[in-house]
Amino acid sequence: MTLPKLQSIILQVLLVAIIMIGAVGFYVTSSLATADATSNVVEPDELAQWGLPLDLGREEVEVYCSACHSLRLVAQQGLTKGDWDELFDWMVEEQEMEEMPAEDRNLVLNYLSKHRGIDRKLKKN
Ligand code: HEC
Repeated sequence: MTLPKLQSIILQVLLVAIIMIGAVGFYVTSSLATADATSNVVEPDELAQWGLPLDLGREEVEVYCSACHSLRLVAQQGLTKGDWDELFDWMVEEQEMEEMPAEDRNLVLNYLSKHRGIDRKLKKN
């Protein structure tokens, strides 16, 4: 066997090895990518689409305001802070809603007047 021939065999073996490593690598990364894609499914945030984006106080809105009706009803409203406050009173006095603890009521009030204020139609929700 001449030296150049040996060199070319070694080159071919190397080439095959590189292709195989590449194929295995591709398989591994692509299967990892698939596993990743299924384990990190991002739920479309339905509430945000309705105009109730994730923010301080939204959790409280979900807790207190979804007991009797859909949050859609809440999302449809656009009120001033004062009117939201009155609406809570109305909800408590007329709709048998339990009074929210002051701290939570404030969070809900601030959240709704920020995201469901009267200027809501100007925002792109
Ligand atoms: C105990 C049950 C109850 C809870 C809790 C409750 N609601 Fe209601 N809500 C009602 C009822 C019943 C109505 C429908 C009243 C009607 O249309 O006669 C209503 C209607 C509404 C409306 C529509 C008002 C309108 O003018 O049509 C809004 C807005 C609303 N609620 C917001 C809220 C918010 C914000 C919260 C949380 C702070 C909340 N609700 C919690 C019972 C509740």
